[in-house]
Amino acid sequence: MAHVRIFDTTLRDGEQTPGVALNTAQKIEIAKQLARLNVDIIEAGFPITSQGDFDAVQRIAREVRGPVICALARTAAADIERAAQALEPAAAGRIHVFTSGSKIHLEHMLRKSEDQVIEASLESVRLARRYVDDVEFSAQDCTRSELDFLVRLYGAAIEAGATTLNIPDTVGYGMPDEYAALIRTLRERIPGAEGVHFSTHCHDDLGLAVANSLAAVGAGATQVECTINGIGERAGNASLEEVVMALETRKDVWGHHTQIATRELYRTSRMVSMMTGTPVPPNKAVVGDNAFAHESGIHQDGVIKHLETYEIMSAETVGRDAGVLVMGKHSGRRAFRRTLEDLGYGELEDDKVNTLFKAFKDLTDRKQSVTSEDIRALVEVETARVPQTYVLESVQFQSGTNMTPVATVRLTTDTGSYEEAATGDGPVDAVYHALERIAQVPIALEAYEIRSVGSGKDALGEVTVRVSSEGRSVHGRGLSTDVVEASALAYVDVLNKLAAGVARQTPPVATP
Ligand code: KIV
Ligand code: ZN
Repeated sequence: MAHVRIFDTTLRDGEQTPGVALNTAQKIEIAKQLARLNVDIIEAGFPITSQGDFDAVQRIAREVRGPVICALARTAAADIERAAQALEPAAAGRIHVFTSGSKIHLEHMLRKSEDQVIEASLESVRLARRYVDDVEFSAQDCTRSELDFLVRLYGAAIEAGATTLNIPDTVGYGMPDEYAALIRTLRERIPGAEGVHFSTHCHDDLGLAVANSLAAVGAGATQVECTINGIGERAGNASLEEVVMALETRKDVWGHHTQIATRELYRTSRMVSMMTGTPVPPNKAVVGDNAFAHESGIHQDGVIKHLETYEIMSAETVGRDAGVLVMGKHSGRRAFRRTLEDLGYGELEDDKVNTLFKAFKDLTDRKQSVTSEDIRALVEVETARVPQTYVLESVQFQSGTNMTPVATVRLTTDTGSYEEAATGDGPVDAVYHALERIAQVPIALEAYEIRSVGSGKDALGEVTVRVSSEGRSVHGRGLSTDVVEASALAYVDVLNKLAAGVARQTPPVATP
């Protein structure tokens, strides 16, 4: 199986992401991680552009071993000499010389004729070869360039000693078939092409950078230029993790392998995201938060029975924890039971699980995603539950500046449904007065505590109360995204505990 070289340009093209600037220490740390990832080539920077870039390339060349260290240069002697100087300490160094291939670039940007561009490229590649054996040559904007000119230009680069020909889709304009055909034609038409590597460098303006890179591999490219998390100029570059995992997962299609240590992918992605301050979208392939998360009941049921029902690669292969079941609106009973088991509640009986599942489903109507902490709290409340003499049906309240808080509460018992209204010092106090009127039990509130389960605006509020009633002390607990409702539930819990411990209570009068 043929080896595809992975050329990482996170530190050069990736650093061209708007708003991203890495310091030398960060670049060295990322370069060391790229070495652990076992990329073939690290494009460490563009030394002529600043002293900082020069220093970073030089230190990476000195301190990072394993990958070839590459420095970028235009077709100008000063650029090439600066790149060569920065690369001196490298065990293996490459100079990447670039110009442009399209009419629009030649006329408006370089302001050079085709012959002048060819001449400058010839001289520059020759000069670069005086410093290193490994020289890459690129003409920007190949996908909008005339084929005949590209054949002459790249032919000249080979003649001057280039060892890798990179064919950039600088503006992300190419379509997969078209780009593959370009690579194939250039390989056929450029004299000497059989002795060099062909490389892809695709930008993602139309979301096709990875597809185009893979198509190029199918057409004979043996090097892919890419960045971690796909960062880079404008819409970014082909994403390294996606290219690598596509080649890995679909070897049957591509018939190629990379030398990437895929278990380092996730860690590298996190590091680059943190250091560059560019968040990874949750739905990003391979490294996004949701890439191995299953939410719908049908999917969860499938992966519990057999992971491969909905996973084409394992999370561990890319250095992540095994696929997670996200407990939300669409989760099914089976996934809920699995989560309970994972949380250590495997021994719960079916009817308890059913009650908990209902409480969980009610919660998903109020809360976007239900956390383990939420489920744990539900279980704790449920397992401490005594027989439900009183069930809270509804609680309504009104309170605000310059008004007396008032609450209306409806409870059901075996004997009917009861509603009472009351005022209080605050909405919770009003609710408690209304509940006391229904239950007709003497209660003194001794302690009231509220805490948030987890964080966020929709976090569950957990209320615990301690009351005394006729010489007995009782605790109650309530859980809800609405803190007044949680307070009411805690009090109803108290009423139920009192009822469970009291032989007989005077039944209240049913509201007609
Ligand atoms: O996108 C591009 O064309 C480049 C070149 C310097 C290779 O980044
Ligand atoms: Zn680029």
